[in-house]
Amino acid sequence: PLAWAEPYRAKMVEPIPVTRRAERERFIAEAGYNPFRLRAEQVSIDLLTDSGTAAMSDAQWSALMLGDESYAGSRSFYRLRDAVRDVLGFDHVLPAHQGRAAENVLFHTLVQPGQVVPNNMHFDTTKAHVQNRHARPVDLGIPDGRDPQSTHPFKGNMDVAALEVLLEEEGPTAPLVMLTVTCNNNGGQPVSMENIRRVSEVAHRHGALLFFDAARFAENAYLIQQREPGYRDVPLSEIVHEMMSHADGCTMSAKKDGLVNMGGFVAFRDETLYRQASSFAILYEGFVTYGGMSGRDLDALAAGLREVLDEAYLSSRVGQVRYLWEQLDGLGIPLVAPAGGHGVYVDAARFLPHFGRDDLPGWALSVALYEEAGVRATEIGTVLAGRDPETGEHDYPAQELLRLAIPRRVYSFRHMDVVAEGLRRVWERRESLPAYRFSYEPPVLRHFTATFEPH
Ligand code: F0G
Repeated sequence: PLAWAEPYRAKMVEPIPVTRRAERERFIAEAGYNPFRLRAEQVSIDLLTDSGTAAMSDAQWSALMLGDESYAGSRSFYRLRDAVRDVLGFDHVLPAHQGRAAENVLFHTLVQPGQVVPNNMHFDTTKAHVQNRHARPVDLGIPDGRDPQSTHPFKGNMDVAALEVLLEEEGPTAPLVMLTVTCNNNGGQPVSMENIRRVSEVAHRHGALLFFDAARFAENAYLIQQREPGYRDVPLSEIVHEMMSHADGCTMSAKKDGLVNMGGFVAFRDETLYRQASSFAILYEGFVTYGGMSGRDLDALAAGLREVLDEAYLSSRVGQVRYLWEQLDGLGIPLVAPAGGHGVYVDAARFLPHFGRDDLPGWALSVALYEEAGVRATEIGTVLAGRDPETGEHDYPAQELLRLAIPRRVYSFRHMDVVAEGLRRVWERRESLPAYRFSYEPPVLRHFTATFEPH
């Protein structure tokens, strides 16, 4: 049982705001029915994202005090470099202020206009950064990954045959292949070691590099250990080394499995590539030994990278996600199966079958859940997907989802009961929920700042 309970205890607490329903209805209306525009003090349980929202450990807080703020060559940088070498096995690292900044540096180094970048499923910033290089992002996840009801254990896998076809056709214009571990947009679903091995083989045979979008590499490793034959007794550190051994580097949003509130990096196996990328890192992020991060933050990240592979932590972490998943599933609420690594994804299309896609079902659920219980979650559906830059039409994704992303080491299992009860009440009155449409729509990454109205 202790394997599921939190393997830590609190020594500092932050009060949770308590609000009344009438207040919440006013708050969300004033926010243009966009949960991103709420003030944090209006939210009781914040499941908007697992990014940058972790609680740091006492060891990380003390590491902050060791931060070396030298402009060049700081000790903090070398501690981070050593952690990246030890944990991931990549020799060269360029800090960046967060994941998308690492993407910016990597894609400026590798991607030219007109090229194509395959990924199992691009996260929205990754897609936007590929497009920003006037290149074409292509999602090549397996078909099971797009079926919310499939219980395939590795729904983050890439369709290797489709990759082979794409690279045959576009070979020289695909400079790299990316694997997002875990695959965020379809449920925090893992990629299997077998798939990593095969994707690496196909990419390299066609002269393309393989990079991980490693934001949730530790959760992916844990799910490999739990689900892939032959890995049950392999230590997580070895699983991570084996995963990374197939790749040429990674981008990292350290705000997830780095267990810090801000930060990221891009890591390389090859020194020449690292040197090329250094010019862009200096241009966009700062000198190569700090890249947009304070020395103390580099130290907290170095400590976080070493902590995240603790088995007791990961089993409680992923166990908490499964705990919420099982409660909601027991209520008959349609979910993406199976439970993933960092959150529970509600299948909004099946929750609100009478909604059309332009009624924005995932968005409508996020507003209803906030009004009901003060729980903030986020749509992963049509709003997030944005518009096709060529046609200007909504770029409808495969699924309409509501993501309940669980911050790391922040909420208790009891908080999950509150979330489940809130969603149960929304489920009871699902036939009377209003649909939403845009009242203001910005041109890029529209979900962050758009406003909506019920209709
Ligand atoms: N890659 C993945 C898989 C992500 O989930 C994210 C961020 C990024 C890259 C970009 O990293 O935010 O540090 O610039 N995901 C957050 C989320 C925002 O809520 O899922 P960033």
